[in-house]
Amino acid sequence: MSPEPATPHPVGTDPAGEQRRSLLAVATRTLAAAGIDSAAAEASLLLAHTLGVEPGRLILVDVVDSEMSRSFLDLVARRSAHTPLQHLTGRAHFGGVDLAVGPGVFIPRPETELLLEWAAPSLTAASVAVDLCSGSGALALGMAASARQLRVHAVENSASALEWLRRNVSEAGEAGERVAVHDADVTDRELPVRLGLHGAVDVVLTNPPYIPVTDELPADVEGHDPHEALFGGGDGMAVITPMIGVIADLLRDGGVVALEHDDSTAHAVIAAFAAEGAFADVTAHRDLAGRPRFVTARRTGR
Ligand SMILES: C[S@@+](CC[C@H](N)C(=O)[O-])C[C@H]1O[C@@H](n2cnc3c(N)ncnc32)[C@H](O)[C@@H]1O
Repeated sequence: MSPEPATPHPVGTDPAGEQRRSLLAVATRTLAAAGIDSAAAEASLLLAHTLGVEPGRLILVDVVDSEMSRSFLDLVARRSAHTPLQHLTGRAHFGGVDLAVGPGVFIPRPETELLLEWAAPSLTAASVAVDLCSGSGALALGMAASARQLRVHAVENSASALEWLRRNVSEAGEAGERVAVHDADVTDRELPVRLGLHGAVDVVLTNPPYIPVTDELPADVEGHDPHEALFGGGDGMAVITPMIGVIADLLRDGGVVALEHDDSTAHAVIAAFAAEGAFADVTAHRDLAGRPRFVTARRTGR
Protein backbone atom coordinates (compact mmCIF):
# COMPACT_ATOMS: atom_id res chain seq x y z
CA MET A 1 0.00 0.00 0.00
CA SER A 2 1.40 3.40 -0.87
CA PRO A 3 1.82 5.87 2.01
CA GLU A 4 -0.77 8.55 2.57
CA PRO A 5 0.18 11.67 0.63
CA ALA A 6 1.31 14.47 2.96
CA THR A 7 -1.42 17.02 3.59
CA PRO A 8 -0.30 20.17 1.78
CA HIS A 9 -0.12 23.34 3.85
CA PRO A 10 -2.57 26.05 2.83
CA VAL A 11 -0.99 28.41 0.33
CA GLY A 12 1.34 30.86 2.08
CA THR A 13 1.65 28.81 5.29
CA ASP A 14 4.24 26.22 6.31
CA PRO A 15 4.33 26.09 10.14
CA ALA A 16 7.49 23.95 10.38
CA GLY A 17 9.15 26.09 7.72
CA GLU A 18 8.27 29.29 9.53
CA GLN A 19 9.58 27.89 12.80
CA ARG A 20 12.78 26.77 11.05
CA ARG A 21 13.24 30.15 9.44
CA SER A 22 12.67 32.04 12.68
CA LEU A 23 15.06 29.75 14.61
CA LEU A 24 17.68 30.25 11.90
CA ALA A 25 17.12 34.02 11.89
CA VAL A 26 17.59 34.24 15.67
CA ALA A 27 20.68 32.03 15.51
CA THR A 28 22.20 33.97 12.61
CA ARG A 29 21.74 37.28 14.45
CA THR A 30 23.21 35.82 17.65
CA LEU A 31 26.24 34.36 15.87
CA ALA A 32 26.86 37.51 13.81
CA ALA A 33 26.68 39.66 16.96
CA ALA A 34 29.33 37.39 18.51
CA GLY A 35 31.62 38.08 15.54
CA ILE A 36 31.23 34.69 13.84
CA ASP A 37 31.97 34.89 10.10
CA SER A 38 29.50 33.02 7.88
CA ALA A 39 26.87 33.22 10.64
CA ALA A 40 23.98 32.08 8.41
CA ALA A 41 25.89 29.08 7.07
CA GLU A 42 26.97 28.04 10.57
CA ALA A 43 23.42 28.43 11.89
CA SER A 44 22.19 26.05 9.17
CA LEU A 45 24.98 23.55 9.91
CA LEU A 46 24.18 23.58 13.63
CA LEU A 47 20.44 23.15 13.04
CA ALA A 48 21.08 20.29 10.60
CA HIS A 49 23.41 18.69 13.16
CA THR A 50 20.78 19.05 15.91
CA LEU A 51 18.12 17.47 13.74
CA GLY A 52 20.43 14.74 12.41
CA VAL A 53 19.95 15.63 8.74
CA GLU A 54 22.22 16.74 5.90
CA PRO A 55 22.22 20.56 5.66
CA GLY A 56 20.75 20.35 2.15
CA ARG A 57 17.74 18.44 3.54
CA LEU A 58 16.83 20.93 6.28
CA ILE A 59 14.00 22.20 4.12
CA LEU A 60 12.34 18.76 4.25
CA VAL A 61 12.14 18.65 8.06
CA ASP A 62 8.55 18.90 9.24
CA VAL A 63 8.92 19.14 13.00
CA VAL A 64 11.31 21.04 15.23
CA ASP A 65 10.02 20.20 18.69
CA SER A 66 10.77 22.30 21.76
CA GLU A 67 13.51 19.98 22.99
CA MET A 68 15.30 20.21 19.63
CA SER A 69 14.89 23.98 19.60
CA ARG A 70 16.47 24.15 23.07
CA SER A 71 19.38 21.90 22.03
CA PHE A 72 19.92 24.02 18.94
CA LEU A 73 19.90 27.31 20.83
CA ASP A 74 22.30 25.80 23.38
CA LEU A 75 24.74 24.98 20.54
CA VAL A 76 24.31 28.51 19.17
CA ALA A 77 25.17 29.92 22.62
CA ARG A 78 28.28 27.75 22.82
CA ARG A 79 29.34 28.73 19.30
CA SER A 80 28.77 32.40 20.24
CA ALA A 81 31.24 31.83 23.10
CA HIS A 82 33.70 30.73 20.34
CA THR A 83 33.68 26.99 20.89
CA PRO A 84 34.87 25.75 17.47
CA LEU A 85 32.05 24.62 15.18
CA GLN A 86 33.79 21.26 14.69
CA HIS A 87 33.82 20.62 18.45
CA LEU A 88 30.05 21.11 18.47
CA THR A 89 29.36 18.82 15.52
CA GLY A 90 32.24 16.44 16.36
CA ARG A 91 33.24 16.24 12.71
CA ALA A 92 35.68 17.93 10.32
CA HIS A 93 35.80 17.51 6.55
CA PHE A 94 39.21 17.49 4.94
CA GLY A 95 40.36 16.49 1.47
CA GLY A 96 37.27 14.37 0.86
CA VAL A 97 37.64 12.61 4.22
CA ASP A 98 35.22 12.89 7.15
CA LEU A 99 37.10 12.97 10.47
CA ALA A 100 36.06 12.72 14.12
CA VAL A 101 37.50 15.64 16.10
CA GLY A 102 37.13 17.16 19.53
CA PRO A 103 39.09 18.46 22.51
CA GLY A 104 42.68 17.20 22.48
CA VAL A 105 43.24 17.24 18.73
CA PHE A 106 43.96 20.01 16.21
CA ILE A 107 41.04 20.80 13.88
CA PRO A 108 42.23 20.40 10.27
CA ARG A 109 42.24 23.67 8.33
CA PRO A 110 41.20 24.19 4.68
CA GLU A 111 44.58 25.73 3.76
CA THR A 112 46.30 22.42 4.59
CA GLU A 113 44.34 20.83 1.72
CA LEU A 114 46.70 22.79 -0.57
CA LEU A 115 49.49 20.36 0.38
CA LEU A 116 47.31 17.43 -0.66
CA GLU A 117 46.45 19.14 -3.96
CA TRP A 118 50.11 19.90 -4.65
CA ALA A 119 51.09 16.28 -3.95
CA ALA A 120 48.28 14.69 -6.02
CA PRO A 121 50.37 14.03 -9.19
CA SER A 122 53.20 12.49 -7.12
CA LEU A 123 50.77 10.36 -5.08
CA THR A 124 49.33 8.63 -8.16
CA ALA A 125 52.75 7.00 -8.78
CA ALA A 126 53.89 6.70 -5.14
CA SER A 127 54.17 3.55 -3.01
CA VAL A 128 55.00 4.99 0.41
CA ALA A 129 54.01 8.32 1.97
CA VAL A 130 54.52 9.80 5.43
CA ASP A 131 52.43 12.35 7.35
CA LEU A 132 54.61 13.90 10.06
CA CYS A 133 52.65 15.57 12.92
CA SER A 134 49.50 13.76 11.89
CA GLY A 135 46.97 15.04 14.47
CA SER A 136 43.54 13.69 13.53
CA GLY A 137 45.08 11.94 10.49
CA ALA A 138 43.79 14.52 8.01
CA LEU A 139 46.75 14.40 5.62
CA ALA A 140 47.45 10.68 6.15
CA LEU A 141 43.86 9.65 5.38
CA GLY A 142 43.56 12.28 2.64
CA MET A 143 46.60 10.71 0.93
CA ALA A 144 45.39 7.14 1.45
CA ALA A 145 41.95 8.01 0.06
CA SER A 146 43.44 9.67 -3.01
CA ALA A 147 45.67 6.77 -4.15
CA ARG A 148 44.60 3.14 -3.68
CA GLN A 149 48.09 1.64 -4.09
CA LEU A 150 49.61 3.85 -1.39
CA ARG A 151 50.86 2.81 2.08
CA VAL A 152 50.91 5.72 4.52
CA HIS A 153 52.74 6.18 7.82
CA ALA A 154 51.22 8.69 10.26
CA VAL A 155 53.56 9.98 12.99
CA GLU A 156 52.24 11.77 16.09
CA ASN A 157 53.40 12.05 19.70
CA SER A 158 50.48 13.55 21.64
CA ALA A 159 48.53 10.92 23.60
CA SER A 160 45.20 12.68 23.09
CA ALA A 161 45.78 13.30 19.37
CA LEU A 162 46.81 9.65 18.95
CA GLU A 163 43.41 8.56 20.31
CA TRP A 164 41.58 10.59 17.65
CA LEU A 165 44.07 9.48 14.98
CA ARG A 166 43.60 5.77 15.76
CA ARG A 167 39.82 6.20 15.83
CA ASN A 168 39.79 7.95 12.43
CA VAL A 169 42.10 5.35 10.89
CA SER A 170 39.94 2.50 12.22
CA GLU A 171 36.75 4.14 10.91
CA ALA A 172 38.20 4.85 7.43
CA GLY A 173 37.59 1.40 5.95
CA GLU A 174 39.94 0.22 3.21
CA ALA A 175 41.92 3.49 3.12
CA GLY A 176 42.47 3.24 6.88
CA GLU A 177 43.85 -0.29 6.50
CA ARG A 178 46.72 1.21 4.48
CA VAL A 179 47.63 3.72 7.23
CA ALA A 180 50.11 2.74 9.98
CA VAL A 181 50.08 4.91 13.10
CA HIS A 182 53.36 5.56 14.96
CA ASP A 183 53.63 7.12 18.41
CA ALA A 184 56.95 8.89 17.83
CA ASP A 185 58.79 12.22 17.82
CA VAL A 186 59.21 13.74 14.35
CA THR A 187 62.43 15.49 15.43
CA ASP A 188 64.15 12.19 16.35
CA ARG A 189 66.89 11.65 13.77
CA GLU A 190 66.70 7.87 14.40
CA LEU A 191 63.03 7.81 13.33
CA PRO A 192 63.58 6.80 9.65
CA VAL A 193 65.70 3.79 10.64
CA ARG A 194 63.40 2.79 13.52
CA LEU A 195 60.38 2.83 11.19
CA GLY A 196 62.33 0.89 8.51
CA LEU A 197 61.77 3.80 6.13
CA HIS A 198 65.28 5.20 5.60
CA GLY A 199 65.49 6.43 1.98
CA ALA A 200 62.25 4.56 1.20
CA VAL A 201 59.60 7.28 1.09
CA ASP A 202 58.16 8.88 -2.06
CA VAL A 203 56.14 11.71 -0.48
CA VAL A 204 56.24 13.48 2.90
CA LEU A 205 53.49 15.92 3.86
CA THR A 206 53.59 17.78 7.14
CA ASN A 207 51.67 20.46 8.98
CA PRO A 208 53.78 20.86 12.16
CA PRO A 209 53.28 23.26 15.07
CA TYR A 210 54.66 26.50 13.64
CA ILE A 211 53.20 29.58 15.31
CA PRO A 212 55.78 31.81 17.03
CA VAL A 213 54.83 31.82 20.75
CA THR A 214 54.55 35.59 20.74
CA ASP A 215 51.61 35.62 18.30
CA GLU A 216 48.10 36.39 19.54
CA LEU A 217 45.47 33.91 18.44
CA PRO A 218 41.77 34.25 17.54
CA ALA A 219 39.30 33.17 20.27
CA ASP A 220 38.24 30.08 18.27
CA VAL A 221 41.83 28.81 18.41
CA GLU A 222 43.13 29.92 21.81
CA GLY A 223 42.13 27.44 24.49
CA HIS A 224 40.66 24.90 22.02
CA ASP A 225 43.40 23.59 19.72
CA PRO A 226 46.09 21.91 21.87
CA HIS A 227 49.11 24.08 22.68
CA GLU A 228 51.55 21.45 21.34
CA ALA A 229 49.72 21.50 18.00
CA LEU A 230 50.11 25.22 17.56
CA PHE A 231 53.35 26.67 18.83
CA GLY A 232 56.81 26.18 17.38
CA GLY A 233 58.95 28.03 19.91
CA GLY A 234 59.94 31.69 19.83
CA ASP A 235 60.59 31.76 16.07
CA GLY A 236 58.06 29.12 14.96
CA MET A 237 60.90 26.82 13.85
CA ALA A 238 61.46 24.63 16.95
CA VAL A 239 59.95 21.50 15.37
CA ILE A 240 60.55 22.39 11.70
CA THR A 241 64.34 22.80 11.83
CA PRO A 242 65.16 19.37 13.34
CA MET A 243 62.36 17.71 11.33
CA ILE A 244 63.97 18.69 8.01
CA GLY A 245 66.92 16.35 8.71
CA VAL A 246 64.43 13.55 9.42
CA ILE A 247 62.62 14.30 6.15
CA ALA A 248 65.96 14.15 4.27
CA ASP A 249 66.59 10.69 5.74
CA LEU A 250 63.07 9.43 4.99
CA LEU A 251 62.90 10.42 1.31
CA ARG A 252 64.37 8.42 -1.54
CA ASP A 253 66.29 10.36 -4.20
CA GLY A 254 63.66 12.25 -6.19
CA GLY A 255 61.09 11.95 -3.36
CA VAL A 256 59.16 15.13 -2.56
CA VAL A 257 58.02 17.03 0.53
CA ALA A 258 55.49 19.77 1.27
CA LEU A 259 55.76 21.52 4.65
CA GLU A 260 53.22 24.04 5.95
CA HIS A 261 54.55 27.02 7.93
CA ASP A 262 53.62 30.34 9.52
CA ASP A 263 53.18 33.23 7.08
CA SER A 264 56.16 34.96 8.71
CA THR A 265 58.64 32.08 8.33
CA ALA A 266 58.87 31.26 4.59
CA HIS A 267 62.47 32.56 4.43
CA ALA A 268 63.52 30.64 7.54
CA VAL A 269 61.99 27.41 6.16
CA ILE A 270 63.70 27.84 2.78
CA ALA A 271 67.00 28.53 4.59
CA ALA A 272 66.55 25.38 6.71
CA PHE A 273 66.01 23.22 3.60
CA ALA A 274 69.06 24.83 1.96
CA ALA A 275 71.19 24.26 5.08
CA GLU A 276 70.42 20.53 5.00
CA GLY A 277 72.19 20.31 1.60
CA ALA A 278 69.98 17.44 0.45
CA PHE A 279 67.19 19.17 -1.47
CA ALA A 280 66.58 20.77 -4.87
CA ASP A 281 63.64 22.73 -6.29
CA VAL A 282 62.99 24.38 -2.91
CA THR A 283 59.89 26.47 -3.66
CA ALA A 284 57.66 28.78 -1.60
CA HIS A 285 53.88 28.64 -2.14
CA ARG A 286 51.10 31.02 -1.09
CA ASP A 287 47.61 30.15 0.13
CA LEU A 288 44.37 31.39 -1.47
CA ALA A 289 44.58 34.59 0.58
CA GLY A 290 48.03 35.27 -0.91
CA ARG A 291 49.95 34.54 2.31
CA PRO A 292 53.18 32.48 2.27
CA ARG A 293 51.90 29.09 3.46
CA PHE A 294 54.03 26.11 2.46
CA VAL A 295 57.39 25.12 1.03
CA THR A 296 58.01 22.18 -1.28
CA ALA A 297 61.30 20.47 -2.15
CA ARG A 298 62.74 17.40 -3.88
CA ARG A 299 65.31 15.08 -2.28
CA THR A 300 68.51 14.93 -4.24
CA GLY A 301 72.15 13.83 -4.04
CA ARG A 302 72.09 10.94 -1.58
C1 LIG B 1 49.22 21.75 13.51
S1 LIG B 1 48.85 20.16 14.12
C2 LIG B 1 48.55 19.36 12.57
C3 LIG B 1 47.70 18.15 12.62
C4 LIG B 1 47.30 17.61 11.23
N1 LIG B 1 48.46 17.31 10.42
C5 LIG B 1 46.42 18.60 10.51
O1 LIG B 1 46.87 19.26 9.57
O2 LIG B 1 45.25 18.71 10.89
C6 LIG B 1 50.44 19.58 14.61
C7 LIG B 1 50.46 18.19 15.25
O3 LIG B 1 51.84 17.86 15.53
C8 LIG B 1 51.91 17.16 16.75
N2 LIG B 1 53.31 17.28 17.22
C9 LIG B 1 53.90 18.37 17.77
N3 LIG B 1 55.20 18.14 18.03
C10 LIG B 1 55.44 16.86 17.63
C11 LIG B 1 56.60 16.02 17.62
N4 LIG B 1 57.77 16.48 18.06
N5 LIG B 1 56.49 14.76 17.16
C12 LIG B 1 55.29 14.28 16.71
N6 LIG B 1 54.15 15.04 16.65
C13 LIG B 1 54.23 16.31 17.10
C14 LIG B 1 50.87 17.83 17.61
O4 LIG B 1 50.48 16.99 18.68
C15 LIG B 1 49.76 18.07 16.58
O5 LIG B 1 48.86 16.99 16.54
